[in-house]
Amino acid sequence: MAVVESNLRHLLALDGMSGGQITSLLDRAERYLPIVGREQPPIDVLGRRIIANMFLEDSTRTRGSFTVAAQRLGAQTVELTGKGSSISKGESLLDTAWTIESFGVDAIVMRTSAAGGAALVAANVNVPVINAGDGRHEHPTQGLLDLLTMRQRLGDLRGRRVAIVGDIANSRVARSNVHGLTALGAEVVLIGPPTLAPQSLAGLSPADNITVSHDLDEQLAALDVIMMLRVQFERGAGISSDYHELYGLTATRTQRLPEHAIVMHPGPMNRGLEIDAAVADDPQRSAIRQQVANGVAVRMAVLAWALGE
Ligand code: ASP
Ligand code: CP
Repeated sequence: MAVVESNLRHLLALDGMSGGQITSLLDRAERYLPIVGREQPPIDVLGRRIIANMFLEDSTRTRGSFTVAAQRLGAQTVELTGKGSSISKGESLLDTAWTIESFGVDAIVMRTSAAGGAALVAANVNVPVINAGDGRHEHPTQGLLDLLTMRQRLGDLRGRRVAIVGDIANSRVARSNVHGLTALGAEVVLIGPPTLAPQSLAGLSPADNITVSHDLDEQLAALDVIMMLRVQFERGAGISSDYHELYGLTATRTQRLPEHAIVMHPGPMNRGLEIDAAVADDPQRSAIRQQVANGVAVRMAVLAWALGE
């Protein structure tokens, strides 16, 4: 189950969350935005709590923003990474989680290369667990921050058409967005070469508003959002030499989007491959920096919710 609201509140996936549950987290995140922008002072909602940031895969945005989010709410963090921890000596995921739980922390935020790793830990510890990315499965707080960004730019997402483009097969960001977007009534088109966007992905959600296309150019004129994904070479993604020509978001392609359409990317970017620098840095269309700022607010909302505040 994505969210367990019995005695513990875990956030493991957006799959299974209702539109109402998602909207209530987004509303809470929106209320925290003035703190992120330093227009309002931090609040002491989680004073004296300790959050463990257990990142067994590399991260800049997610790990850093969970730390900032915790601190803006008055909590402290203990940071553990794969390199430099006893994971590198072969300690298992569960032994690592039990060790951290034994410190007496109040919640565990975790990233792992194992799909289902966060659910496994959640089933075996007595503190809330927040999935910060588990292999190719889900990245729920990224999905939430993307939804918040789209909602800010476009309003109600019902009926909006969102393209997710590139290495879908390896992307937990794509999976979380598919579940979140369909829960909020948007239409999703997954676009990429057949190797990275196989037709079977149309079955990702029981909703009938997901399609798969291999032709980016034919979709551009009807989009409200185009979300580019990183080609995940570290997960074995292979691309042909014409990848940029067929699927790269260039300034020329961007001109064929509707006037109001926005460009997103979860980061980190392969500039010049899936997205050109001129597009990523376009002050009007690009929402990439707004996504990062929203990530702090969303993680504040999720931490406060998970800890019952
Ligand atoms: N940072 C995102 C993730 O960890 C996307 C990516 O790495 O391409 O899933
Ligand atoms: N978007 C994202 O998850 O970035 P990091 O891998 O840098 O955390």
